[in-house]
Amino acid sequence: MKTAIASEEVNANGKTAATPTPMQLNGKLEEVRVYWNDHIHDLELAKNPVGSLGFFDDLDEYRFDKLNYLPKLVDFENGFKGKKILEIGCGVGIDLARFAAGGAKVTGIDLSETAIDLARKNFAARNLTGNFLLMNGEDLDFPPDSFDVVYVHGVLQYTSNPQQMAKEMYRILKPGGQAISMVYNRISWLNALSKIMKVDLEHEDAPVLEKYTISELKDILKPFDATKIVPERFPVKSRLHRGWKGALFNGIFVPAFKILPSFLVKPLGWHIMAFSTKTS
Ligand SMILES: C[S@@+](CC[C@H](N)C(=O)[O-])C[C@H]1O[C@@H](n2cnc3c(N)ncnc32)[C@H](O)[C@@H]1O
Repeated sequence: MKTAIASEEVNANGKTAATPTPMQLNGKLEEVRVYWNDHIHDLELAKNPVGSLGFFDDLDEYRFDKLNYLPKLVDFENGFKGKKILEIGCGVGIDLARFAAGGAKVTGIDLSETAIDLARKNFAARNLTGNFLLMNGEDLDFPPDSFDVVYVHGVLQYTSNPQQMAKEMYRILKPGGQAISMVYNRISWLNALSKIMKVDLEHEDAPVLEKYTISELKDILKPFDATKIVPERFPVKSRLHRGWKGALFNGIFVPAFKILPSFLVKPLGWHIMAFSTKTS
């Protein structure tokens, strides 16, 4: 199916300039697009109206409380000044806004119109400049060697062909560039706990949701010259789950997990972060 869609650049005044971009989606990716048009990641945690500055602040605050390790691994504030960054599957642009605030030149792409629309609103509300496009991350409309960094957080596991996305990530990176990815760890405390407690994980109803082992992720990222794996995301108190299951999790599980030796729990992090390089 060929869909005519619009790409827009938003500047600090929220001014936009539209240009049509063609996007070709197979059946499964069309289902992915439809799903993510209806689901905003972490929406249920926001207290302020969708699209307001307060809404984006709510999402940012929740995200960086839950992913408290992320700014230590990815130095949004100081590590990417002047770098050209592409985020594939940018969602509403929470991380991309942090890169932009740190002085990076950012582009966000997503299949979902809802995501791109909200990402533009996020940037306008924060007086930030970014380029946002509706685009398929498995078929990027950029020439080779275009970006210093490609950031793909929580996306390879939701797309129909992650191997194809990885090839595209490699192609559009400049020599010397870096890809930062995150997928869910199948052999992790959270996956095990959700099965034992019979509690669904977020977006378990998405048309595509794969959990990977560390070696499976390395295999997906094999176009790259080198990849460093960092398992992360260990239990923090949940704001989502209530009742006895929430109380057990927050009162017993989280404190008990903290006293386990780190060499035992480290490989069991729910998020597998990967830092990959393209040397030539
Ligand atoms: C769980 S959300 C992650 C959003 C954001 N990266 C984050 O970490 O919060 C997954 C996003 O990936 C997007 N996505 C999935 N497959 C894609 C593809 N092939 N091309 C572009 N975006 C895709 C979805 O539309 C959705 O916005």
